[in-house]
Amino acid sequence: MTASEFFQRDFATNHLGHLEIGGCDAVDLVKDYGTPLYVMDEKKIRANCRDYLQALGEIYPDADVIYAGKAFLTKAICGLIYQEGLGLDVVSGGELYTALHAGFPPERIYFHGNNKSHEELLFALRQGVGQIMVDGLMELETLIQLAIETRTRPGVIFRLTPGIEAHTHTYNQTGQEDSKFGMGINDGVALHAVKMALRSPHIKLLGFHSHIGSQIFEVAPFEAAIKVMGEFLVEVRKQTGYVAQVLDLGGGLGISYNKEEKPMSIREAVTRIGEMVRESLTALEYPLPHLILEPGRSIVGSAGTTLYTVGNIKELPGIRTYVAVDGGMTDNPRVALYQAVYEAVLANKMYEQVTEVVTITGKCCESGDMLIWDLPIVSPKPGDILAAFSTGAYNYSMASNYNRLPRAAVVLVAEGQADLIVARETYEQLVQNDLMPKRLKVNPKIIAK
Ligand code: LLP
Repeated sequence: MTASEFFQRDFATNHLGHLEIGGCDAVDLVKDYGTPLYVMDEKKIRANCRDYLQALGEIYPDADVIYAGKAFLTKAICGLIYQEGLGLDVVSGGELYTALHAGFPPERIYFHGNNKSHEELLFALRQGVGQIMVDGLMELETLIQLAIETRTRPGVIFRLTPGIEAHTHTYNQTGQEDSKFGMGINDGVALHAVKMALRSPHIKLLGFHSHIGSQIFEVAPFEAAIKVMGEFLVEVRKQTGYVAQVLDLGGGLGISYNKEEKPMSIREAVTRIGEMVRESLTALEYPLPHLILEPGRSIVGSAGTTLYTVGNIKELPGIRTYVAVDGGMTDNPRVALYQAVYEAVLANKMYEQVTEVVTITGKCCESGDMLIWDLPIVSPKPGDILAAFSTGAYNYSMASNYNRLPRAAVVLVAEGQADLIVARETYEQLVQNDLMPKRLKVNPKIIAK
């Protein structure tokens, strides 16, 4: 069986037996941009955005989709997301700066985070960010104070913890009560915060948010969250008369990293969620609010492929064969962090037979720096190009400079055209923030230029 038959992914192979991504020959991309290289397929990102907007719009017309930038944020992606009509969820001053620098309209930005600093909040208020997602009581007090100081009146959405445990990696669960995020519904904190907000003329409470986790494959936990949120809306109305304009159900739809993982399609999941909100609130006789979904992974995850060059191969007869590539946990920490299981092919040997099972390792000084355990593969040789699939989300955005490896470049491909959207980091950039106190100066002759 050839690699393309084995993995059955929706990638083309050209007449040279090379993998094609967005109409570009992967081997040519490597010649032009080097490795490791993140390759983002523009068409796939746009198609995912459209699936969200169309499916949601059909079932629930008063709705919005905002992209969770933490999955993958660069200026070019901000432009793309904007063109597709999505809003943007940012979680730090840095993400906010990136978005504003790209020209993203601040009123379409939602500012999340469980510990936004005063500086970050001030930055957001002064830039006119449309929605501040308030994560706790302390933050609410701070925000009211800062709104007074800046003479602004921010729109505010409360992040709540609905007490739901989604079936996903524990690091990716966020909706349970014992969470660092959000305000509890069951312990009364959320209701207390609503009363505080309604007393303040300095902020405008728009509604409520919940995010139950990430890489979720079933709609049941969303259903449970919708039920809890609906009951909370009713309770708030009963106690205060306040009717929410906005209900934001967060992100979390899973994607397929490997053959075993079979998520619902975006359309299917979004339609179910829209339906459930309608049915549940209608049954509670609550006016339908503006519904927001906040996907990250399901917008960009499957659109990303990382290209590496195969380097040293170490055979341990009867044990395993380690095939090292020129990246690893620095460009994809998800294997070490969440035991994620990826698939990959040799992009320059797509028509050859899969004959071996090897383990792909990174180049960091760390035994946990593994990319793929026990991967069925065409016989690898140094210089081959390894293409790892579904690396578009939480790879570049979580990359590090461990072992002082420069961060990889990113290209956006479409219709056979490639645009560099993040340049490869240089050694010079690696040391540009280092300072050398005079008393530690070494012989300048031996410092590399
Ligand atoms: N909204 C909020 C408030 C979130 O915290 C997140 C993700 C999202 C939306 C987007 O969720 P998504 O649609 O991407 O599942 N680094 C982990 C994932 C962390 C997710 C954090 N929050 C990973 O690589 O699996």
